[in-house]
Parts: sequence; structure tokens; C-alpha cells
Amino acid sequence: MISHHAYAVEPWCLRETELNLDVLAQSESVFAVSNGHVGWRGNLDEGEPHALPGSYLNGVHEQHPLPYAEAGYGFPESGQTVINVTNGKLIRLLVDDEPFDLRYGRLRSHERVLDLRTGLLHRVCEWTSPVGQTVRVRSTRMVSFTQRAIAAVAYEVEPVDARTSVVVQSELVANEQMPALSGDPRVGAALRSCLRPEENAAVDMRLRLVHHTAASDQRIGAAADHVVRGPASTRSSSESANDVGRLTVSAVLDPGETLRIEKFVSYGWSGIRSLPAVRDQVEAALTGARNTGWQGLVDQQREYLDGFWRHADIEVDGDAEIQQAVRFALFHVLQAGSRAEQRSIPAKGLTGSGYDGHAFWDTETFVLPLLTYASPNCVAEALHWRQNTLPAARERAEQLGLRGAVFPWRTIDGAECSGYWPAGTAAFHINADIAAAVVRYIRATGDTDFERRTGVELLVETARLWHSLGHHDSGGRFHIDGVTGPDEYSALANDNAYTNLMAGANLRAAADVAERHPEQAAALGVDKEEAAGWRDAAKAMSVPYVSELGLHEQSAGYTGLDVWDFENTPPELYPLMLHFPYFDLYRKQVVKQADLVLAMYLRGDAFEADQKARNFAYYEPLTVRDSSLSACVQCVMAAEVGHVRLAFDYLGEAALMDLADLEKNTRDGLHIASLAGTWVGLVAGFGGMRDHGDVLYFAPRLPESLSRLAFSVLIRQRCLRVDITGSQVTYTLRDGEPLRISHGGEVITLSKGSPQTRPVEHPTALPEPAQPPGRRPEPRR
Ligand code: BGC
Repeated sequence: MISHHAYAVEPWCLRETELNLDVLAQSESVFAVSNGHVGWRGNLDEGEPHALPGSYLNGVHEQHPLPYAEAGYGFPESGQTVINVTNGKLIRLLVDDEPFDLRYGRLRSHERVLDLRTGLLHRVCEWTSPVGQTVRVRSTRMVSFTQRAIAAVAYEVEPVDARTSVVVQSELVANEQMPALSGDPRVGAALRSCLRPEENAAVDMRLRLVHHTAASDQRIGAAADHVVRGPASTRSSSESANDVGRLTVSAVLDPGETLRIEKFVSYGWSGIRSLPAVRDQVEAALTGARNTGWQGLVDQQREYLDGFWRHADIEVDGDAEIQQAVRFALFHVLQAGSRAEQRSIPAKGLTGSGYDGHAFWDTETFVLPLLTYASPNCVAEALHWRQNTLPAARERAEQLGLRGAVFPWRTIDGAECSGYWPAGTAAFHINADIAAAVVRYIRATGDTDFERRTGVELLVETARLWHSLGHHDSGGRFHIDGVTGPDEYSALANDNAYTNLMAGANLRAAADVAERHPEQAAALGVDKEEAAGWRDAAKAMSVPYVSELGLHEQSAGYTGLDVWDFENTPPELYPLMLHFPYFDLYRKQVVKQADLVLAMYLRGDAFEADQKARNFAYYEPLTVRDSSLSACVQCVMAAEVGHVRLAFDYLGEAALMDLADLEKNTRDGLHIASLAGTWVGLVAGFGGMRDHGDVLYFAPRLPESLSRLAFSVLIRQRCLRVDITGSQVTYTLRDGEPLRISHGGEVITLSKGSPQTRPVEHPTALPEPAQPPGRRPEPRR
């Protein structure tokens, strides 16, 4: 736990029992609350001390020029950065003239609890001011899952042993002072004071600020309303200025008396709506929330989460830390995606400004698989967002001289924001990753309406890209040259196996949907010849394989490169990209993150079992895991090829990435893909679930440390529960029509009310391959 004893291991919550300023930044990320539309970092109510103040609205960003020492054709000229919008969570407190600031006086107790079942962040603390007055403060914070524009705080203060005069200032603050950020490229750019004031108002207990951004031209409204309960001495007044709206409430409290403020905050933003429209939007949302009331919002939150956990919960017996971590992960992934609604799901969700708030392939490859089987509506929304950005993707393809669509490597609004093209534009695989997410969602839900309206267009335009990017050689083989695969320590390689295999699936899927939806395909200009061309390319796709070694190559010629000098690379020089030039990494065999190993998971149907084992053994000693996207994939393939103990070590790494701050950058926001990777590791790794074919396939196997693993998958409007122990697995269809699944190749038809039990196979324990020196995952025994 964030290497601090103050964090307790509990199954359904994250509890911090002491305030430790050394890990304040990390705690702000792990205690972030969000619904995918509005996100509040876990900053303390009174605003300070803070590491990184953060209030985010999905999609709200500012643009800035991307300067290049040497520019080149097609380099994006402007970047996008998520901005810290109006802070609605601020509640400052004055205790007999002393600001309630935990850096002064004495903090007698402090506890914060993020309750994963209720979706509420609770805080209770007792503080003695420098002159000796003691108060108890209790607060509860939420971002509503049911009312997308709404966040709320209930704040209570009471004196502990003497009559005390308190003043509470509940504020909306725009253009907060931001701390200086480091030079780490994974940290976002700091844009200061980028909100231009347009309107401010304070009427009774209601506050409102409207701002707009200069370059991205977005208008942002925030409004707050309050319910105040206190003794007869309670007085309040409100005021506003350009960047602040403030309700001030004062009271004199005797011990046993409490001042309670319920604060409702609404947010709205738009790139096209007028000032009156945005103003009305936030006022209306606020009125709705006021009518629901605090308790109403709390009840709705619980009900929403009850619905989620019913289908999404994973039970892990035998490792309490993993049990907590997986629920924490599921909760944060839900927070990132639940109400994103036609916006992206950024790599950090709305928990921090790391990676500038950009979305990457992380979404489609790591986050959407979980959501497909736990909360499929979110997936349709996320893919609609991609569809909405097709005009930019088509334009980008044209600029690059290609056909179809080229989706951006990193973006907020759909425009390419990567200024480093070898690991940006050249990472074309993102297009096939999006296509794979489309196919997975359609297979899992049978949502033909989505297939027709969204799937066809996304699959066709991405297939066109592959067909124009690749070429047939004289022998007819299809090659895709000069691309970067998932491993960013190799770039511009020919025939990256992962890219080619995923592109092949993309081409085939496009031809299939074009057949199923001839009208939609024709409207996009697809004819028989074009679709036949896609099938030919898919069939002839080259996948580099060295028969003498019996090995697949990550890309053509890869095994002939020098191997990185791992022996002479001390631990402090990782991650390598911060200590070595890319040109040197690119010409050596050193793998940043699972690449061929990821291909063996996502396109497992394209490899034989013995090839998988040999490939895994070859790439393990080359893979340094300088990306948090690697451990979960290595977990899956380690489990499949028989290294179940090693798989469990990898699972631990994926699951504890943020709770233990393993990459030392949880302060910038959570690693949403790695959190989703906890699900990937458990469900695909130890549940052995694969979705290549028409029926879901399972090949469960548990590590010794786990006595039981149980998870559910939503599949075609049915809920399937898989309950695994060391010796057997039980499949239960909880509802709906009979369902066919495959248990290690045996097709089983499940009916509601008739669970089926099968023995679990124990793979032969193979000798574990070594990792590069110093890069072994922490053993988890
Ligand atoms: C990884 C990418 C990933 C990005 C954002 C990079 O370090 O190499 O694969 O998309 O981080 O998580």
C-alpha cells in the first residue's frame, strides 16, 4: 500500500488512517471520484495542503503550439492538454480566526475511506488549532453516477470541548494556482490561468461562474447551491468575482452542536453552445440535484453501484490484497468510463493530468474488454466517440497519403497530438485495436443496431487503411512495413507480428460486416472487389517466423538484432527511455512492453500451443516492463503456457500498480489500463477466458496462493458466473436463454438453474524463464 502503514487492506474500501504529506499526491489520485464526465481528485476539502489540485471535465482542454526543433511534413502543429477547471469541491474553514490547515496546529486523528459499494469518499478528522481549539470535521464527497453533471459534498464541523466560532467558505474557484511540474514526459504540460471569465453570479446560496478557453474555444459553466443547517447563530452571505464564487457561513457552536453544509455542484461545457445556454444548463442540472437532495443522491449512487457489482464483482479467496485491489480497479475503471458518453476514456481517467489527459490504445485494448463483459453500454459510447472523430481520422489518412481512417495515437478531441511520430503516428496498430474492440463488443452483445450504425463504418475505414498501408510482394504475401508495434523500444519495423495479426483480423471483420450489411457498405462505397481485396490481404498476411528457431519474430529480422546489455544496466537506469537515446533502444532486442506476447493473447488462434511456450520463453528475458501495460499481458500468457506462479507475480504487479505506486507516478493520476489489467489477469489469465470464436472459451487454472476465484461475464444479455477452486470450476447461467461455452475445448450448453462443474486441468510446471536482471516481478507467495 503506497508504502505506508496508514493504508489498510479491506475487501470493499480503501482506508487511510493517518495523513502523510509524503504521499499526499498519490492519495489524491487513489481517492479521486469521477463518473467519466466530471472528475475530482482526492484533494482535501479545504484545498491545501495539496500536491496537484484537480477538477476535470471529460473533453475540456486547451490547445497549445507543439514546437519542433526540426519540423517535418504531417507533424501535428498543436497539442491538447486537459485543464484544471473550476474547483467546486473547496470548503475552507476558519476556527476562531485560525485557518483550518493541517500543516499548523495538531492533527489528532484523520481518516479517509473510499467506499466502493456506496461510491462515497468519507473523511473524518480532529484537529487542534495552534491556540488550542479542537474541532471535528466530517465530510462526504461524491460525483454522481446517475446525474452526470453533478458532484456533491456534505460537510460538518463541530467543536470538541469548548464553544467555538467557525466560518465556513464554500467556494467555486477558477484558475487555481498550480504547482510546478517535473520534466518527465509522462507528466502533463502545465497551462496556467487558461480560463477566461465570462460571467459570475451569487444569489443567496447559489453561485455560478462561466469561463471559456481561449484557443480551444470551449465554454465551461459551474454552479453550486447549498443547504445549511446550524444553530440559531448561523449567518450566511455570498459574493462572486471573476474567478471565485463564495458562500460564507458563520456560527458559534457549543460542544454537541454541528454546522452542516450540503453543497451541490453542477458542471456543463460546450464547444458550440452560447453563454445563456451553458448558464441554463448548469442551473437546470443544479435544480435537479437540489430536488433529489443529498440523501436522494446517496441512494441513487448506491443503487447504481449495486447494479454494477451484481455483474462485475470478482471474488478472490486467499489473497486479501488482491481482493481489495481488484475491486478498487473495477471501481476506478467504472468511474473512468461510466458516463463518458461519446467522449474518450483517457489513460488516467479523470484522476490526474498525466499524459495531458490523452486517450491512447489503452482504452480499446485494456479498458474496453473489461467494460464489454461488465458494463457494455459504456463500450458502445466509447466507440461512438471514435466514430464521431472519423472526420479527423479521414483527414489524417489523406494527409499521410493513405486511404480510410488513421486514428490518432494520443488525443482528447480526435486530432493527433503526438509530436513524436516514431511512437505516435507510426503506431498504426491503434486502428486495429479499435476494430478489435468493435468486434468484441458486437460478439459479446449481439448489438446489431450498433454494428449497422457504427461497426460497419469503423471496420471499413480501418480496413481501408491497412489495405493502402500494406502491399503484396511478388509472391503474393502481404506486408506492412515501417510501423511501430506496442513495444515502443522498437520503431518503424517491417511486419510487426502484432500489427499484422490484428490488421488481418480487422480486414476480415470488415469484409464480414460488409456482407452482413450491404446497404451500409455500399453507402460507404464498398464494392465486392474491395471486400475481396481485404480478404486476400488478410489471408496472405505475413507473420515473421524463424523456422530454425521455431520462433515468431516481433518484427521481420528482430531476432538478428543485438541483445541489449542487460547485465550492465543497473536498476536505477529504468525506465530505459529516460536514460538512453531511442536510436540505441531501437537497434537492440529489448522489449518495453508485451508485443508478440500480446499478439499471442489477443490472436491466440493464430499460434500453436508449443509455439506459444517457445515464444514466451524467448521474449521473457528481453521484456523490461517499462510500461504499466505489460504485466497483465505477461500474466495471461504465463498462465496459458504453464507458469502459473509467475503469472500470479505479474498479476500482483498489475493490480498494485497504483495502490503500491510501483512506477512512482501515481501522483499524476491512476493507470487505468493497468487497473483494467487486474481484470484481464484474473479473467483471461486464471479464468483462461478467450473470445476469439463464437463461443466464450475458458481454461481455468489457479495459482497455489488462491483457493478460489469467481467472476461474472455479461454475454448477450445473460450473466454467466464462473467459480473456480483449485480442483474444479462451476459455470452458472444466472439468467436468460441457454448459452454455449467452451471449457478447454469441450462445448457445454448451460441453462439457467443447472450449473455445470468440470475438473480444472493443471498444466505441467515448466521451468520458469528468467527476466532481464533486476526486472523480475515481485514474488507474490
Ligand atoms: C506505453 C503506451 C501507452 C502509454 C499510455 C506508454 O508508456 O508505451 O503503450 O499507450 O504509455 O499509457
